[in-house]
Amino acid sequence: MKIIKHSFDGVIVGAGGAGLRAAIEAAPHMKLAVITKLYPTRSHTGAAQGGMSAALANVEEDNWNWHAFDTVKGSDYLADQPAVDILCKEAIDAVIELEHWGLPFSRLENGKIAQRRFGGHTVKEGEAPAFRACYAADRTGHMILQTLYQKCVSMGVEFFDEFQVLDIKIEDGVCKGVIAFELSTGDIHIFETRAVTFATGGFGKIFKVSSNAHSLTGDGPGILYQKGIPLEDMEFYQFHPTGIYRLGILLSEAARGEGGILRNKDGERFMERYAPSIKDLAPRDMVSRAIATEISKGNGAGPQNDYVYLDLTHLGAETINKKLPDITDFVRTYVKIEPINEPIPVQPTAHYAMGGIPTDVNGRVLSDEKNTILPGVYAAGEAACVSVHGANRLGTNSLLDIMVFGKRAGQSMLEYVSKTKASSISDSSSDDLVKKINNLIEKEHTDEFSVGRIRNDLQESMEKNTKIFRTEETLSEQTKILEDLRERYENVTIFDKGKVFNTELMETIELDYLLDMSESTVASALARKESRGAHSRQDFPERDDAEWMKHSFAFKNGNSATLRYKDVELGKYEPMERTY
Ligand code: FUM
Repeated sequence: MKIIKHSFDGVIVGAGGAGLRAAIEAAPHMKLAVITKLYPTRSHTGAAQGGMSAALANVEEDNWNWHAFDTVKGSDYLADQPAVDILCKEAIDAVIELEHWGLPFSRLENGKIAQRRFGGHTVKEGEAPAFRACYAADRTGHMILQTLYQKCVSMGVEFFDEFQVLDIKIEDGVCKGVIAFELSTGDIHIFETRAVTFATGGFGKIFKVSSNAHSLTGDGPGILYQKGIPLEDMEFYQFHPTGIYRLGILLSEAARGEGGILRNKDGERFMERYAPSIKDLAPRDMVSRAIATEISKGNGAGPQNDYVYLDLTHLGAETINKKLPDITDFVRTYVKIEPINEPIPVQPTAHYAMGGIPTDVNGRVLSDEKNTILPGVYAAGEAACVSVHGANRLGTNSLLDIMVFGKRAGQSMLEYVSKTKASSISDSSSDDLVKKINNLIEKEHTDEFSVGRIRNDLQESMEKNTKIFRTEETLSEQTKILEDLRERYENVTIFDKGKVFNTELMETIELDYLLDMSESTVASALARKESRGAHSRQDFPERDDAEWMKHSFAFKNGNSATLRYKDVELGKYEPMERTY
Protein backbone atom coordinates (compact mmCIF):
# COMPACT_ATOMS: atom_id res chain seq x y z
CA MET A 1 0.00 0.00 0.00
CA LYS A 2 1.42 3.38 -0.98
CA ILE A 3 1.56 5.91 1.90
CA ILE A 4 1.37 9.59 0.92
CA LYS A 5 1.85 12.42 3.39
CA HIS A 6 0.32 15.93 3.35
CA SER A 7 0.62 18.90 5.65
CA PHE A 8 -2.26 21.33 6.27
CA ASP A 9 -3.14 23.87 8.97
CA GLY A 10 -6.69 22.54 9.11
CA VAL A 11 -8.73 19.66 7.71
CA ILE A 12 -12.50 19.43 7.33
CA VAL A 13 -13.95 15.95 7.01
CA GLY A 14 -17.20 16.03 5.05
CA ALA A 15 -18.32 18.35 2.25
CA GLY A 16 -22.02 18.76 3.02
CA GLY A 17 -23.46 22.09 4.16
CA ALA A 18 -21.72 22.19 7.56
CA GLY A 19 -18.29 21.26 6.19
CA LEU A 20 -18.51 23.71 3.29
CA ARG A 21 -19.76 26.53 5.51
CA ALA A 22 -16.86 25.92 7.91
CA ALA A 23 -14.47 25.90 4.94
CA ILE A 24 -15.72 29.28 3.69
CA GLU A 25 -14.89 30.75 7.09
CA ALA A 26 -11.48 29.16 7.50
CA ALA A 27 -10.06 28.88 3.97
CA PRO A 28 -8.99 32.50 3.37
CA HIS A 29 -6.70 32.45 6.39
CA MET A 30 -5.10 29.00 6.49
CA LYS A 31 -3.91 26.10 4.38
CA LEU A 32 -7.07 24.02 4.44
CA ALA A 33 -8.12 20.65 3.04
CA VAL A 34 -11.70 19.40 2.71
CA ILE A 35 -11.84 15.61 2.55
CA THR A 36 -14.99 13.82 1.41
CA LYS A 37 -15.81 10.21 0.69
CA LEU A 38 -18.22 11.43 -2.02
CA TYR A 39 -18.11 14.28 -4.48
CA PRO A 40 -19.12 17.43 -2.55
CA THR A 41 -22.27 17.98 -4.61
CA ARG A 42 -23.44 14.44 -3.80
CA SER A 43 -23.44 15.19 -0.05
CA HIS A 44 -26.71 14.53 1.73
CA THR A 45 -27.46 18.23 2.33
CA GLY A 46 -28.55 18.08 -1.31
CA ALA A 47 -31.44 15.80 -0.34
CA ALA A 48 -32.93 18.33 2.11
CA GLN A 49 -36.11 19.62 0.59
CA GLY A 50 -38.54 21.91 2.34
CA GLY A 51 -36.71 24.92 3.72
CA MET A 52 -34.52 26.75 6.20
CA SER A 53 -36.27 28.73 8.89
CA ALA A 54 -35.53 32.31 9.83
CA ALA A 55 -37.85 34.93 11.26
CA LEU A 56 -37.56 37.26 8.27
CA ALA A 57 -41.22 38.26 8.62
CA ASN A 58 -41.61 38.48 4.83
CA VAL A 59 -45.16 37.09 4.87
CA GLU A 60 -46.44 38.05 8.33
CA GLU A 61 -45.24 39.39 11.67
CA ASP A 62 -42.50 37.18 13.14
CA ASN A 63 -39.49 37.44 15.42
CA TRP A 64 -36.62 35.17 16.39
CA ASN A 65 -37.88 34.79 19.95
CA TRP A 66 -41.00 33.00 18.66
CA HIS A 67 -38.72 30.78 16.57
CA ALA A 68 -36.71 30.03 19.73
CA PHE A 69 -39.88 29.30 21.73
CA ASP A 70 -41.03 26.81 19.07
CA THR A 71 -37.60 25.17 18.86
CA VAL A 72 -37.44 24.66 22.63
CA LYS A 73 -41.02 23.40 22.86
CA GLY A 74 -40.44 21.19 19.79
CA SER A 75 -37.34 19.75 21.50
CA ASP A 76 -39.54 18.69 24.45
CA TYR A 77 -37.42 21.04 26.56
CA LEU A 78 -34.19 19.07 26.17
CA ALA A 79 -32.48 21.65 23.93
CA ASP A 80 -29.94 23.96 25.58
CA GLN A 81 -31.73 27.30 25.48
CA PRO A 82 -28.67 29.61 25.11
CA ALA A 83 -27.67 27.58 22.01
CA VAL A 84 -31.22 27.83 20.63
CA ASP A 85 -31.14 31.61 21.05
CA ILE A 86 -27.95 31.73 18.94
CA LEU A 87 -29.50 29.47 16.27
CA CYS A 88 -32.65 31.53 15.89
CA LYS A 89 -31.05 34.96 16.19
CA GLU A 90 -28.26 34.20 13.67
CA ALA A 91 -30.73 32.54 11.28
CA ILE A 92 -31.71 35.83 9.71
CA ASP A 93 -28.15 36.78 8.67
CA ALA A 94 -27.50 33.20 7.54
CA VAL A 95 -30.35 33.38 5.00
CA ILE A 96 -29.32 36.82 3.75
CA GLU A 97 -25.74 35.59 3.39
CA LEU A 98 -26.91 32.72 1.17
CA GLU A 99 -29.03 35.14 -0.86
CA HIS A 100 -25.98 37.34 -1.42
CA TRP A 101 -23.95 34.31 -2.49
CA GLY A 102 -26.51 33.68 -5.21
CA LEU A 103 -28.94 31.09 -3.84
CA PRO A 104 -32.04 31.15 -6.07
CA PHE A 105 -34.74 31.30 -3.38
CA SER A 106 -38.40 31.11 -4.39
CA ARG A 107 -39.88 34.60 -4.28
CA LEU A 108 -43.06 36.40 -3.22
CA GLU A 109 -44.86 38.71 -5.66
CA ASN A 110 -43.01 41.66 -4.08
CA GLY A 111 -39.62 40.05 -4.78
CA LYS A 112 -38.84 39.12 -1.18
CA ILE A 113 -37.74 35.59 -0.24
CA ALA A 114 -40.84 33.36 -0.03
CA GLN A 115 -41.62 31.65 3.28
CA ARG A 116 -43.86 28.67 3.99
CA ARG A 117 -45.31 26.87 6.99
CA PHE A 118 -43.59 23.86 8.58
CA GLY A 119 -44.31 21.55 11.50
CA GLY A 120 -44.10 23.05 14.98
CA HIS A 121 -43.33 26.61 13.79
CA THR A 122 -45.90 29.08 15.10
CA VAL A 123 -46.50 32.78 15.59
CA LYS A 124 -46.96 34.29 19.05
CA GLU A 125 -45.88 31.14 20.90
CA GLY A 126 -48.45 28.76 19.53
CA GLU A 127 -51.23 31.00 18.18
CA ALA A 128 -51.14 29.68 14.57
CA PRO A 129 -48.74 28.02 12.11
CA ALA A 130 -46.01 30.47 11.02
CA PHE A 131 -44.72 31.25 7.52
CA ARG A 132 -41.05 30.98 8.53
CA ALA A 133 -39.32 28.47 6.22
CA CYS A 134 -37.34 30.13 3.40
CA TYR A 135 -37.26 27.83 0.42
CA ALA A 136 -36.28 27.09 -3.16
CA ALA A 137 -39.29 25.02 -4.31
CA ASP A 138 -38.70 21.60 -2.68
CA ARG A 139 -34.97 21.50 -3.40
CA THR A 140 -33.68 23.94 -0.78
CA GLY A 141 -30.83 21.70 0.40
CA HIS A 142 -29.71 21.11 -3.18
CA MET A 143 -29.53 24.87 -3.76
CA ILE A 144 -27.66 25.47 -0.50
CA LEU A 145 -25.12 22.77 -1.34
CA GLN A 146 -24.52 24.14 -4.85
CA THR A 147 -24.23 27.70 -3.56
CA LEU A 148 -21.72 26.79 -0.85
CA TYR A 149 -19.70 24.58 -3.19
CA GLN A 150 -19.48 27.31 -5.83
CA LYS A 151 -18.35 29.74 -3.16
CA CYS A 152 -15.64 27.28 -2.01
CA VAL A 153 -14.48 26.73 -5.59
CA SER A 154 -14.28 30.48 -6.17
CA MET A 155 -12.13 30.76 -3.02
CA GLY A 156 -9.78 28.02 -4.19
CA VAL A 157 -10.55 25.55 -1.37
CA GLU A 158 -8.55 22.34 -1.85
CA PHE A 159 -10.79 19.26 -2.04
CA PHE A 160 -9.84 15.60 -1.69
CA ASP A 161 -12.85 13.90 -3.29
CA GLU A 162 -13.54 10.19 -2.76
CA PHE A 163 -11.12 9.97 0.14
CA GLN A 164 -12.52 8.17 3.18
CA VAL A 165 -11.12 9.34 6.52
CA LEU A 166 -10.60 6.32 8.77
CA ASP A 167 -8.70 7.57 11.79
CA ILE A 168 -7.77 10.63 13.81
CA LYS A 169 -4.44 10.88 15.57
CA ILE A 170 -4.61 12.44 19.01
CA GLU A 171 -1.39 12.44 21.03
CA ASP A 172 -1.23 13.65 24.64
CA GLY A 173 -4.75 14.96 24.22
CA VAL A 174 -3.82 17.08 21.19
CA CYS A 175 -4.93 16.62 17.57
CA LYS A 176 -2.07 15.70 15.20
CA GLY A 177 -3.85 14.63 12.02
CA VAL A 178 -6.13 12.24 10.18
CA ILE A 179 -5.55 9.18 8.02
CA ALA A 180 -7.58 8.64 4.86
CA PHE A 181 -8.04 5.93 2.23
CA GLU A 182 -8.14 7.01 -1.41
CA LEU A 183 -11.00 5.07 -2.97
CA SER A 184 -9.78 5.16 -6.56
CA THR A 185 -6.29 3.80 -5.80
CA GLY A 186 -6.36 2.12 -2.40
CA ASP A 187 -3.51 4.40 -1.26
CA ILE A 188 -3.26 5.66 2.31
CA HIS A 189 -2.91 9.40 2.93
CA ILE A 190 -1.60 10.87 6.18
CA PHE A 191 -2.83 14.44 6.73
CA GLU A 192 -0.68 16.22 9.28
CA THR A 193 -2.80 19.01 10.78
CA ARG A 194 -3.49 20.95 13.96
CA ALA A 195 -7.23 21.22 13.62
CA VAL A 196 -9.92 18.86 12.33
CA THR A 197 -13.66 19.52 11.90
CA PHE A 198 -15.95 16.53 11.55
CA ALA A 199 -18.99 17.33 9.42
CA THR A 200 -19.80 13.83 8.25
CA GLY A 201 -23.59 13.91 8.68
CA GLY A 202 -25.86 11.38 10.36
CA PHE A 203 -26.27 7.64 10.63
CA GLY A 204 -29.75 6.84 9.37
CA LYS A 205 -28.47 3.60 7.86
CA ILE A 206 -28.78 1.88 11.24
CA PHE A 207 -32.45 1.53 10.21
CA LYS A 208 -34.00 -0.34 7.32
CA VAL A 209 -36.44 2.29 6.09
CA SER A 210 -34.61 5.59 5.96
CA SER A 211 -34.54 8.85 4.04
CA ASN A 212 -30.74 8.77 4.39
CA ALA A 213 -28.31 7.96 1.59
CA HIS A 214 -26.14 4.83 1.80
CA SER A 215 -23.22 7.01 2.81
CA LEU A 216 -24.76 8.04 6.15
CA THR A 217 -23.00 5.63 8.45
CA GLY A 218 -21.86 7.78 11.39
CA ASP A 219 -18.19 7.94 10.35
CA GLY A 220 -17.20 11.08 12.30
CA PRO A 221 -19.03 10.10 15.50
CA GLY A 222 -17.70 6.52 15.10
CA ILE A 223 -14.06 7.58 14.71
CA LEU A 224 -14.21 9.76 17.83
CA TYR A 225 -16.29 7.27 19.87
CA GLN A 226 -13.61 4.65 19.27
CA LYS A 227 -11.07 7.14 20.68
CA GLY A 228 -13.00 7.49 23.94
CA ILE A 229 -15.00 10.63 23.06
CA PRO A 230 -18.62 10.27 24.22
CA LEU A 231 -21.75 10.59 22.08
CA GLU A 232 -24.52 12.83 23.41
CA ASP A 233 -28.28 12.17 23.43
CA MET A 234 -28.12 9.09 21.22
CA GLU A 235 -31.53 7.85 22.36
CA PHE A 236 -33.20 10.61 20.35
CA TYR A 237 -33.58 9.62 16.71
CA GLN A 238 -36.14 11.33 14.49
CA PHE A 239 -38.59 9.56 12.20
CA HIS A 240 -39.95 11.83 9.50
CA PRO A 241 -43.68 11.14 9.10
CA THR A 242 -43.79 11.03 5.33
CA GLY A 243 -41.37 8.67 3.66
CA ILE A 244 -42.55 6.87 0.52
CA TYR A 245 -44.03 3.57 1.71
CA ARG A 246 -41.34 0.87 2.04
CA LEU A 247 -38.68 2.95 0.21
CA GLY A 248 -38.32 5.65 2.86
CA ILE A 249 -37.57 8.37 0.28
CA LEU A 250 -38.42 11.73 1.80
CA LEU A 251 -41.61 13.54 0.85
CA SER A 252 -41.05 16.95 2.32
CA GLU A 253 -43.09 18.34 5.20
CA ALA A 254 -43.43 21.29 2.82
CA ALA A 255 -46.23 19.23 1.26
CA ARG A 256 -48.20 19.67 4.48
CA GLY A 257 -46.93 23.25 4.80
CA GLU A 258 -48.60 23.93 1.45
CA GLY A 259 -51.84 22.34 2.70
CA GLY A 260 -51.36 18.58 2.25
CA ILE A 261 -53.36 16.37 4.61
CA LEU A 262 -52.66 12.98 6.20
CA ARG A 263 -55.53 10.51 6.00
CA ASN A 264 -56.08 6.99 7.32
CA LYS A 265 -57.67 4.13 5.39
CA ASP A 266 -61.14 5.62 5.89
CA GLY A 267 -60.06 8.96 4.51
CA GLU A 268 -60.22 10.52 7.98
CA ARG A 269 -57.92 13.49 8.71
CA PHE A 270 -56.70 11.76 11.87
CA MET A 271 -54.29 14.51 12.99
CA GLU A 272 -57.38 16.48 14.11
CA ARG A 273 -57.59 14.02 17.00
CA TYR A 274 -53.87 14.16 17.95
CA ALA A 275 -53.06 17.88 17.54
CA PRO A 276 -56.39 19.74 17.32
CA SER A 277 -54.91 23.22 16.85
CA ILE A 278 -52.14 22.71 14.25
CA LYS A 279 -53.13 19.22 13.03
CA ASP A 280 -50.86 17.97 10.20
CA LEU A 281 -48.31 20.66 11.10
CA ALA A 282 -47.57 19.28 14.56
CA PRO A 283 -43.88 18.44 15.26
CA ARG A 284 -42.54 15.27 13.65
CA ASP A 285 -42.33 13.11 16.76
CA MET A 286 -46.05 13.63 17.38
CA VAL A 287 -47.10 13.07 13.78
CA SER A 288 -44.97 9.91 13.46
CA ARG A 289 -46.44 8.55 16.70
CA ALA A 290 -49.93 9.36 15.46
CA ILE A 291 -49.29 7.42 12.23
CA ALA A 292 -47.83 4.45 14.15
CA THR A 293 -50.85 4.51 16.47
CA GLU A 294 -53.32 4.61 13.60
CA ILE A 295 -51.53 1.65 12.01
CA SER A 296 -51.49 -0.34 15.26
CA LYS A 297 -55.24 0.30 15.71
CA GLY A 298 -55.92 -1.19 12.28
CA ASN A 299 -56.58 2.19 10.63
CA GLY A 300 -53.67 1.87 8.23
CA ALA A 301 -54.32 1.47 4.51
CA GLY A 302 -53.23 -1.23 2.07
CA PRO A 303 -53.37 -5.03 2.19
CA GLN A 304 -51.29 -5.09 5.39
CA ASN A 305 -52.83 -1.94 6.89
CA ASP A 306 -49.33 -0.55 7.31
CA TYR A 307 -49.34 2.88 5.72
CA VAL A 308 -51.37 6.09 5.65
CA TYR A 309 -52.01 8.56 2.85
CA LEU A 310 -50.53 11.95 2.15
CA ASP A 311 -53.29 13.68 0.23
CA LEU A 312 -52.30 16.56 -2.08
CA THR A 313 -55.17 16.18 -4.53
CA HIS A 314 -56.99 19.34 -3.35
CA LEU A 315 -53.90 21.54 -3.92
CA GLY A 316 -54.25 21.63 -7.67
CA ALA A 317 -51.69 21.06 -10.43
CA GLU A 318 -50.33 24.61 -10.41
CA THR A 319 -49.29 24.62 -6.72
CA ILE A 320 -47.96 21.09 -6.92
CA ASN A 321 -45.89 21.72 -10.04
CA LYS A 322 -44.54 25.05 -8.84
CA LYS A 323 -43.89 24.36 -5.18
CA LEU A 324 -43.42 20.60 -4.91
CA PRO A 325 -41.94 19.55 -8.27
CA ASP A 326 -39.23 17.17 -7.05
CA ILE A 327 -41.17 15.13 -4.52
CA THR A 328 -44.13 14.68 -6.83
CA ASP A 329 -41.74 13.48 -9.51
CA PHE A 330 -40.30 10.96 -7.03
CA VAL A 331 -43.84 9.67 -6.51
CA ARG A 332 -44.45 9.33 -10.24
CA THR A 333 -41.11 7.57 -10.70
CA TYR A 334 -41.07 5.23 -7.72
CA VAL A 335 -44.74 4.62 -6.91
CA LYS A 336 -46.15 5.05 -10.39
CA ILE A 337 -49.06 7.19 -9.27
CA GLU A 338 -50.06 10.74 -10.18
CA PRO A 339 -50.12 12.80 -6.93
CA ILE A 340 -52.26 15.49 -8.54
CA ASN A 341 -55.11 12.95 -8.67
CA GLU A 342 -54.30 10.26 -6.08
CA PRO A 343 -53.22 10.21 -2.42
CA ILE A 344 -49.69 8.90 -1.75
CA PRO A 345 -48.91 5.88 0.49
CA VAL A 346 -46.48 7.01 3.22
CA GLN A 347 -44.92 5.72 6.42
CA PRO A 348 -42.46 7.23 8.93
CA THR A 349 -38.86 7.01 7.76
CA ALA A 350 -35.63 7.21 9.78
CA HIS A 351 -34.46 10.74 9.08
CA TYR A 352 -32.29 12.62 11.56
CA ALA A 353 -30.04 12.04 14.56
CA MET A 354 -30.60 14.60 17.29
CA GLY A 355 -27.60 13.08 19.10
CA GLY A 356 -23.97 12.97 18.07
CA ILE A 357 -20.53 14.35 18.92
CA PRO A 358 -20.95 16.76 21.86
CA THR A 359 -19.85 20.32 21.11
CA ASP A 360 -20.13 23.75 22.65
CA VAL A 361 -21.78 26.59 20.68
CA ASN A 362 -18.46 27.25 18.92
CA GLY A 363 -18.20 23.75 17.48
CA ARG A 364 -15.49 22.68 19.96
CA VAL A 365 -15.73 18.98 20.75
CA LEU A 366 -16.33 18.10 24.41
CA SER A 367 -14.57 15.05 25.75
CA ASP A 368 -16.86 14.56 28.75
CA GLU A 369 -20.02 15.67 30.52
CA LYS A 370 -18.02 18.36 32.39
CA ASN A 371 -17.52 20.32 29.15
CA THR A 372 -13.79 19.54 28.87
CA ILE A 373 -12.62 20.77 25.45
CA LEU A 374 -10.68 18.42 23.16
CA PRO A 375 -8.08 20.80 21.66
CA GLY A 376 -8.07 21.09 17.88
CA VAL A 377 -11.14 18.94 17.25
CA TYR A 378 -14.45 20.41 16.05
CA ALA A 379 -17.77 19.09 14.82
CA ALA A 380 -20.81 20.61 13.10
CA GLY A 381 -24.07 19.66 11.44
CA GLU A 382 -25.88 16.38 12.01
CA ALA A 383 -22.67 14.66 13.19
CA ALA A 384 -22.66 17.05 16.16
CA CYS A 385 -24.91 17.61 19.14
CA VAL A 386 -24.77 21.28 20.22
CA SER A 387 -27.63 20.75 21.52
CA VAL A 388 -30.22 22.87 19.70
CA HIS A 389 -32.65 20.10 18.75
CA GLY A 390 -32.96 18.37 22.11
CA ALA A 391 -35.29 15.39 21.95
CA ASN A 392 -36.96 16.36 18.66
CA ARG A 393 -35.79 18.68 15.88
CA LEU A 394 -38.23 20.96 14.11
CA GLY A 395 -38.20 20.65 10.32
CA THR A 396 -36.01 23.31 8.60
CA ASN A 397 -33.79 23.75 11.66
CA SER A 398 -31.14 21.38 10.30
CA LEU A 399 -30.30 23.47 7.24
CA LEU A 400 -30.15 26.37 9.65
CA ASP A 401 -27.94 24.42 12.08
CA ILE A 402 -25.35 23.62 9.37
CA MET A 403 -25.11 27.28 8.38
CA VAL A 404 -24.94 28.78 11.87
CA PHE A 405 -22.78 26.18 13.60
CA GLY A 406 -20.73 25.29 10.50
CA LYS A 407 -19.64 28.93 10.39
CA ARG A 408 -18.86 28.93 14.12
CA ALA A 409 -16.80 25.72 13.85
CA GLY A 410 -14.78 27.30 10.99
CA GLN A 411 -14.13 30.38 13.13
CA SER A 412 -13.01 28.23 16.07
CA MET A 413 -10.60 26.27 13.88
CA LEU A 414 -9.14 29.51 12.66
CA GLU A 415 -8.69 30.91 16.15
CA TYR A 416 -7.03 27.69 17.34
CA VAL A 417 -4.69 27.43 14.34
CA SER A 418 -3.61 31.05 14.73
CA LYS A 419 -2.54 30.36 18.33
CA THR A 420 -0.97 26.91 17.88
CA LYS A 421 2.36 25.84 16.45
CA ALA A 422 2.42 23.30 13.61
CA SER A 423 3.26 19.84 14.87
CA SER A 424 4.44 16.74 13.10
CA ILE A 425 3.01 13.27 12.76
CA SER A 426 5.18 10.19 12.31
CA ASP A 427 5.24 8.16 9.09
CA SER A 428 4.29 5.10 11.12
CA SER A 429 1.00 6.65 12.27
CA SER A 430 -0.94 4.71 9.64
CA ASP A 431 0.64 1.34 10.54
CA ASP A 432 -2.29 0.05 12.64
CA LEU A 433 -4.77 0.99 9.97
CA VAL A 434 -2.78 -0.63 7.18
CA LYS A 435 -2.58 -3.80 9.27
CA LYS A 436 -6.34 -3.76 9.85
CA ILE A 437 -7.05 -3.32 6.13
CA ASN A 438 -4.59 -6.04 5.13
CA ASN A 439 -6.14 -8.44 7.65
CA LEU A 440 -9.59 -7.79 6.21
CA ILE A 441 -8.43 -8.36 2.66
CA GLU A 442 -6.44 -11.49 3.46
CA LYS A 443 -9.23 -13.32 5.33
CA GLU A 444 -10.96 -15.95 3.19
CA HIS A 445 -14.47 -14.89 2.18
CA THR A 446 -17.54 -16.71 3.52
CA ASP A 447 -21.16 -15.80 2.81
CA GLU A 448 -22.14 -16.23 6.44
CA PHE A 449 -19.87 -13.42 7.57
CA SER A 450 -20.43 -11.08 4.63
CA VAL A 451 -20.82 -7.41 5.39
CA GLY A 452 -24.16 -7.24 3.53
CA ARG A 453 -25.75 -9.92 5.67
CA ILE A 454 -24.62 -8.48 8.98
CA ARG A 455 -25.75 -4.98 7.96
CA ASN A 456 -29.10 -6.24 6.78
CA ASP A 457 -29.71 -8.04 10.08
CA LEU A 458 -28.67 -4.90 11.95
CA GLN A 459 -31.05 -2.66 9.99
CA GLU A 460 -34.01 -5.03 10.28
CA SER A 461 -33.60 -5.56 13.99
CA MET A 462 -33.09 -1.86 14.77
CA GLU A 463 -36.21 -1.12 12.73
CA LYS A 464 -38.21 -3.69 14.68
CA ASN A 465 -37.00 -2.97 18.21
CA THR A 466 -35.99 0.68 18.48
CA LYS A 467 -38.17 2.61 16.05
CA ILE A 468 -40.99 4.91 17.15
CA PHE A 469 -42.15 3.04 20.26
CA ARG A 470 -39.74 1.24 22.57
CA THR A 471 -40.00 -0.83 25.75
CA GLU A 472 -37.55 -2.44 28.16
CA GLU A 473 -38.36 -5.73 26.41
CA THR A 474 -37.65 -4.57 22.83
CA LEU A 475 -34.51 -2.71 23.86
CA SER A 476 -33.18 -5.67 25.87
CA GLU A 477 -33.88 -7.96 22.93
CA GLN A 478 -31.96 -5.55 20.68
CA THR A 479 -29.04 -5.47 23.15
CA LYS A 480 -28.69 -9.24 22.77
CA ILE A 481 -29.01 -9.03 18.98
CA LEU A 482 -26.29 -6.39 18.88
CA GLU A 483 -23.97 -8.60 20.96
CA ASP A 484 -24.47 -11.37 18.42
CA LEU A 485 -23.97 -9.02 15.45
CA ARG A 486 -20.78 -7.69 17.02
CA GLU A 487 -19.48 -11.22 17.40
CA ARG A 488 -20.27 -11.90 13.74
CA TYR A 489 -18.60 -8.63 12.78
CA GLU A 490 -15.37 -9.73 14.48
CA ASN A 491 -15.28 -12.48 11.82
CA VAL A 492 -16.44 -10.35 8.89
CA THR A 493 -14.96 -11.24 5.51
CA ILE A 494 -14.93 -9.50 2.13
CA PHE A 495 -15.17 -10.86 -1.38
CA ASP A 496 -13.41 -8.01 -3.21
CA LYS A 497 -9.64 -8.28 -2.76
CA GLY A 498 -8.80 -5.40 -5.11
CA LYS A 499 -7.32 -1.97 -4.45
CA VAL A 500 -9.35 0.11 -6.90
CA PHE A 501 -12.73 1.37 -5.64
CA ASN A 502 -12.99 -1.38 -3.07
CA THR A 503 -16.34 -0.20 -1.78
CA GLU A 504 -16.92 -3.48 0.06
CA LEU A 505 -13.84 -2.79 2.16
CA MET A 506 -15.14 0.68 3.00
CA GLU A 507 -18.61 -0.68 3.77
CA THR A 508 -17.01 -3.09 6.20
CA ILE A 509 -15.37 -0.24 8.06
CA GLU A 510 -18.63 1.74 7.94
CA LEU A 511 -20.46 -1.22 9.45
CA ASP A 512 -18.23 -0.95 12.50
CA TYR A 513 -19.51 2.63 12.98
CA LEU A 514 -23.10 1.54 12.37
CA LEU A 515 -22.70 -1.01 15.14
CA ASP A 516 -21.20 1.66 17.42
CA MET A 517 -24.10 4.01 16.67
CA SER A 518 -26.62 1.25 17.36
CA GLU A 519 -24.96 0.12 20.59
CA SER A 520 -24.82 3.65 21.98
CA THR A 521 -28.40 4.35 20.84
CA VAL A 522 -29.82 1.24 22.48
CA ALA A 523 -27.83 1.64 25.73
CA SER A 524 -28.94 5.29 26.04
CA ALA A 525 -32.57 4.41 25.21
CA LEU A 526 -32.67 1.54 27.70
CA ALA A 527 -31.40 3.79 30.48
CA ARG A 528 -33.83 6.69 29.87
CA LYS A 529 -36.93 5.65 31.72
CA GLU A 530 -39.30 8.34 30.48
CA SER A 531 -40.84 9.46 27.18
CA ARG A 532 -39.58 12.71 25.68
CA GLY A 533 -39.63 13.92 22.08
CA ALA A 534 -38.65 11.15 19.69
CA HIS A 535 -37.81 8.74 22.53
CA SER A 536 -41.13 7.11 23.34
CA ARG A 537 -41.07 4.37 25.98
CA GLN A 538 -44.43 2.60 26.18
CA ASP A 539 -43.47 1.32 29.63
CA PHE A 540 -42.67 4.90 30.81
CA PRO A 541 -45.17 6.98 28.81
CA GLU A 542 -44.75 10.26 30.74
CA ARG A 543 -42.06 12.92 30.52
CA ASP A 544 -40.23 13.05 33.86
CA ASP A 545 -38.67 16.50 34.30
CA ALA A 546 -37.70 15.89 37.91
CA GLU A 547 -35.39 13.02 36.93
CA TRP A 548 -34.58 13.42 33.24
CA MET A 549 -33.92 17.04 32.30
CA LYS A 550 -30.43 15.90 31.37
CA HIS A 551 -28.34 14.97 28.37
CA SER A 552 -26.90 11.48 28.13
CA PHE A 553 -23.19 11.00 27.36
CA ALA A 554 -22.45 7.47 26.11
CA PHE A 555 -18.81 6.35 26.40
CA LYS A 556 -17.75 3.27 24.47
CA ASN A 557 -17.25 0.37 26.82
CA GLY A 558 -16.44 -2.75 24.85
CA ASN A 559 -19.52 -3.46 22.80
CA SER A 560 -21.83 -1.41 24.98
CA ALA A 561 -21.77 2.04 26.52
CA THR A 562 -21.21 3.54 29.94
CA LEU A 563 -23.57 6.44 30.56
CA ARG A 564 -23.01 9.73 32.33
CA TYR A 565 -25.28 12.78 32.33
CA LYS A 566 -25.18 16.57 32.11
CA ASP A 567 -27.98 18.98 33.08
CA VAL A 568 -29.91 20.76 30.34
CA GLU A 569 -29.09 24.49 30.11
CA LEU A 570 -32.36 26.24 30.76
CA GLY A 571 -33.35 29.76 29.79
CA LYS A 572 -36.48 31.85 29.60
CA TYR A 573 -38.84 29.01 28.67
CA GLU A 574 -40.15 26.91 31.55
CA PRO A 575 -40.97 23.32 30.60
CA MET A 576 -44.71 23.02 30.07
CA GLU A 577 -47.16 20.48 28.76
CA ARG A 578 -46.54 19.98 25.07
CA THR A 579 -49.94 20.29 23.45
CA TYR A 580 -50.62 21.67 19.98
O1 FUM B 1 -39.53 17.67 5.22
C1 FUM B 1 -38.50 18.20 4.86
O2 FUM B 1 -38.41 18.94 3.89
C2 FUM B 1 -37.31 18.00 5.69
C3 FUM B 1 -36.74 19.03 6.26
C4 FUM B 1 -35.85 18.86 7.41
O3 FUM B 1 -35.56 17.73 7.81
O4 FUM B 1 -35.47 19.87 8.01
